[in-house]
Amino acid sequence: MYPSKRNNTKTVYFVFLFVSSLFFGCKNSEEKINFKKAQKGQELFTSVGCATCHSLSGAKFYGPSLNKILGTKTKVIRNHKEYTVFFDENYIKKSIIDPDFEKPILFKSKKMPKPSLTTFEVDCLTNYLVSINKTSTKH
Ligand code: HEC
Repeated sequence: MYPSKRNNTKTVYFVFLFVSSLFFGCKNSEEKINFKKAQKGQELFTSVGCATCHSLSGAKFYGPSLNKILGTKTKVIRNHKEYTVFFDENYIKKSIIDPDFEKPILFKSKKMPKPSLTTFEVDCLTNYLVSINKTSTKH
């Protein structure tokens, strides 16, 4: 009938979908941090010894400082090859569970001992590190 009218309806529909996906997208990323777990993670960070090798201030201890900004790129070595990965939640978690899987290039000759933690504890530590890295993006 009136093609232009049909197109308008479509446009309105897509704009609606787009806006709502933005809205839900933001909501999800805010919900990613579980603050109870993050708090527990903060305690664990000191009590299980992460703090002896990792600063949260940018200072280099034996291991890299962990106050990096989420989503920034890090160069790592995996199987003797160089890769660029994003410093994100998955990377943090994987680095805790399996430190030998890949190493940040500046620390390739250093060794992080595999910590013996429960899945819950790893989750808490990951939440904690994500939470401090999120806040460090807000200046
Ligand atoms: C004996 C020192 C030591 C301890 C203890 C230690 N780490 Fe590490 N960690 C390292 C070193 C060295 C690296 C880099 C080399 C590697 O990945 O093996 C690293 C890498 C990491 C990375 C990746 C960082 C990056 O920039 O790529 C994370 C995340 C991490 N450690 C978290 C933890 C957490 C959480 C704990 C406590 C459960 C912990 N570490 C305990 C030495 C340590």
